[in-house]
Amino acid sequence: MIEKIQALMNEVGSLTANDEKTLEVLRIKYLSKKGLLNDLMSEFRSVPNEQKREIGQRINELKTSLQDKLNELRANLSQQEEDYSDLDLTRTAYPIKLGTRHPLSIVKNEIINIFSNLGFALADGPEVEDDWHVFSSMNFAEDHPARDMQDTFFVEQKPDIVLRTHTSSIQARVMENSRPPIRVICPGRVYRNEAISARAHCFFHQVEGLYIDKDVSFTDLKQVLLTFAREMFGADTKIRLRPSYFPFTEPSAEMDISCNICGGTGCSFCKHTGWVEILGCGMVDPNVLEANGIDSTIYKGYAFGMGVERITNLKYQVKDLRLFSENDIRFLEEFESAN
Ligand code: PHE
Repeated sequence: MIEKIQALMNEVGSLTANDEKTLEVLRIKYLSKKGLLNDLMSEFRSVPNEQKREIGQRINELKTSLQDKLNELRANLSQQEEDYSDLDLTRTAYPIKLGTRHPLSIVKNEIINIFSNLGFALADGPEVEDDWHVFSSMNFAEDHPARDMQDTFFVEQKPDIVLRTHTSSIQARVMENSRPPIRVICPGRVYRNEAISARAHCFFHQVEGLYIDKDVSFTDLKQVLLTFAREMFGADTKIRLRPSYFPFTEPSAEMDISCNICGGTGCSFCKHTGWVEILGCGMVDPNVLEANGIDSTIYKGYAFGMGVERITNLKYQVKDLRLFSENDIRFLEEFESAN
C-alpha cells in the first residue's frame, strides 16, 4: 500500500491543467467520492493496526498535496490572460436601438413649439383636481351633465375630487396665481368616463391656450389659430369657425380646417365635406375672469383647446385610438423618422 501511495504522490507533482475542464477531470479522478483517495481510505480499514499510524499519515499527506496542487492549478488558470487573437477589434459596435418618441409627444411638442414662437409660455397643473378648478371656476352650472359620474371619474365626493376632464383646469390655476397679461399654453392628459373603442378612450390629451390682456378681440383669436393651422398642416390650409357653446367662453366656436387629406375637395375622411374639426375656442366668459379674481371690466381674453390624438390622427391617419396606449413596438417604430 505504501508503494501505491508513493506512486500517487509522484503523479501529483506532474499534474497539469490548461483549462477548467481538465481541472475538473483531475478533481473527479482523485478527490471525488469515487476517486482514488477514497479508494485508499476504504483499503485503509483493513490495514493491520501497527501500520495504521504510518499509512494514515501518508494518506493525509497525499490528500493535502493533491488539494494544494489542484488549488495551484486553478489559480494559474484564472491568471491566464484571455486570448483575443480571433477578435476583430476594428469592427464597428453592434447598433444600439434607441427608443422613439411617442407620436402623441411628437405632435404635442410641435403644437407647443408653434405657440411658444408666438409668445405663449408653458403651464402645468394636477391631473387629480378639485371640483372648483375643473368645473365651478369654469362657469359650469351646478347641474351640468359633465359633473355627472357617467361622464367624470370621481376620486372622492363631498368635497368632490375628480380626474380632470379637460385642461381648462390649468387655466384656472394660472389665473389664480398670476396677473394679466397672461399668455399660456397648457398641455396635459385628461380623463372621461367613456367605454374604450377605436373612437373613444377613457383618457386622452389636450393642449389648451389662454390669452388675457386689455383689448383682446375675437380677431386676435382667429389670427393666432390661422397661423397655428398653417404651421401645423401646411401653408395652404384654410380655417372656418362655426358657432358653438362652452360654459367658459362666450361667444364660442369650433374650428375646422380644410381637409388635409383631400385638400378640401372631399373624401371619406372628411365625410365629403372638405372640412375637419380640430378645436374649440372662444372669448373667455366674464364670469370665468371674475371667478378667478380678474376684473372683467378691464381685461378680456380668449381661450382654445384641442385634442392631441385628434391632431395626430389628422397628421398620421391613425385609425384606432387604442393604438396610442397599447405600446405595440411595431406601431411606435413607424414614427422613428418623425422624431
Ligand atoms: N375644454 C374644452 C374641451 O374639453 C375645449 C375648449 C377649451 C373650448 C378652451 C374652448 C376654449 O372640449
